[in-house]
Amino acid sequence: MKKITIAIDGYSSCGKSTMAKNLAREIGYIYIDSGAMYRAVTLYSLQKGFFTEKGIETEALKAAMPDIHISFRLNPETQRPMTFLNGTNVEEAIRSMEVSSHVSPVAALGFVREALVKQQQEMGKAKGIVMDGRDIGTVVFPDAELKIFVTASAAIRAQRRYDELRSKGQEASYEKILENVEERDRIDQTREVSPLRQADDAILLDNSHMSIAEQKQWLTEKFQAAING
Ligand code: CDP
Ligand code: CDP
Repeated sequence: MKKITIAIDGYSSCGKSTMAKNLAREIGYIYIDSGAMYRAVTLYSLQKGFFTEKGIETEALKAAMPDIHISFRLNPETQRPMTFLNGTNVEEAIRSMEVSSHVSPVAALGFVREALVKQQQEMGKAKGIVMDGRDIGTVVFPDAELKIFVTASAAIRAQRRYDELRSKGQEASYEKILENVEERDRIDQTREVSPLRQADDAILLDNSHMSIAEQKQWLTEKFQAAING
């Protein structure tokens, strides 16, 4: 069967990776969480002390870019993807509130995007890939056969993130999460390089009132239509 490229973009915490991961598993495609790559660069910057009260030291990060190696492996037990930074499993560490509150300024840097986009395009060369992020349908894979743009109200997105953290037994503040979600959306949409926007040929999905099973069904139908079209 022919293989296609699937780009899933949208606002933070609206369920992009959940739907992308589910579809990839169902159809036997590779799944890549591009946000994890921006998060890994952010974690590295925090570990190296590149953040000062004046913001990020861009020259230090630029010089360090060749030393940042990001890769993905499947957890053999859960079959869930794990993110590795220079050989260390950082899958949990990159999801911390500290990384969430520093990632958008890092993702606004042109040289960071250039390096990560190159790697993402390499990963998608053979097609058969589902990638989620902010600029996948507009910049990384502008020729993707299926493009989805996901949105949901900010309150619902923050609630989903809050529920997720609580279900893992982690402390969380709904107010802080909502603030972070809205702030990241603002930075992601207004940055100069590759701002978050819906590609002209992307299908819009507002999943505010959809269950995970309903959005999975919706996406499977769009995939079937794309593959037959
Ligand atoms: O999962 P969540 O929606 O919270 O965010 P993410 O997908 O892990 O992405 C984290 C951050 O990385 C976003 O807020 C963006 O600033 C940045 N990002 C980006 O600029 N471009 C991408 N393709 C993916 C993520
Ligand atoms: O990748 P993105 O940041 O867009 O979101 P996610 O990490 O896939 O999903 C955020 C949370 O929303 C997860 O805990 C999902 O289980 C939950 N959720 C969802 O993905 N879709 C729904 N329709 C409802 C909840």
